[in-house]
Amino acid sequence: NSNNGSSKDKVLNVGTEATFAPFEYQQKGKIVGFDVDLLNAVAKQAGYKISIKNTGWDAMLAGLQNKELDVGMAGITINDERKKSYDFSNPYFESKSMIVFKKGTNIKTAKDLIGKKVGVQNGTTGQFTAESILGKNSNKISKYETSALCFTALKSGDVDAVVTDNAVALQYVKNNPNSNLETVTDKSFKSEYYGIAFPKNSDLKAKFDKALTKVMDNGEYAKIYKKWFNK
Ligand code: ARG
Repeated sequence: NSNNGSSKDKVLNVGTEATFAPFEYQQKGKIVGFDVDLLNAVAKQAGYKISIKNTGWDAMLAGLQNKELDVGMAGITINDERKKSYDFSNPYFESKSMIVFKKGTNIKTAKDLIGKKVGVQNGTTGQFTAESILGKNSNKISKYETSALCFTALKSGDVDAVVTDNAVALQYVKNNPNSNLETVTDKSFKSEYYGIAFPKNSDLKAKFDKALTKVMDNGEYAKIYKKWFNK
């Protein structure tokens, strides 16, 4: 691609919710993570630069709908409902729901969440998973604006468990060894796939799909994966 790295590269406005390590989080005032590295690689391959802002989840989705944002990159699960409002790249990461709780809480399977207080990030698949177990209008489900606030609530005892994406759950447990946390998954939790989100009918989708394929084929994806998942 002769346009690679050109100073004429257009800058895309990217929204995210940057409390979702290892995919996107803030470090010394900068947004870093697997998603950030991957998006940089793919955008570069497609001949674009990116400007990524921590808009928050809801504002990211709203910004895609009203086309103020060019891209949403936030470990966003591709699903049929969302496809009505946004376009998605081809999948770039496989995920599943996971339950996080303090050791000693009696949780062995999803069913054990019944009767417990469950924290989720509002509008995410963690919420949908919790609702599928506890019921859609369960008052036992507490919805938080960010992923980080779910874990704050778990630490303080405001909730008994958090339902979130497995890689994020495992990273949090690993980074907080003194919180005595444990995770379980459940056979009923289905695989989900993350995609890069665009406004409906954006011409970026085709370009980014092509670039993503390239980044997956040329070893860049594997390098980024190894950096963030150490395998
Ligand atoms: N994969 C889940 C979803 O799409 C959770 C994503 C949350 N992302 C974030 N950056 N907080 O619903």
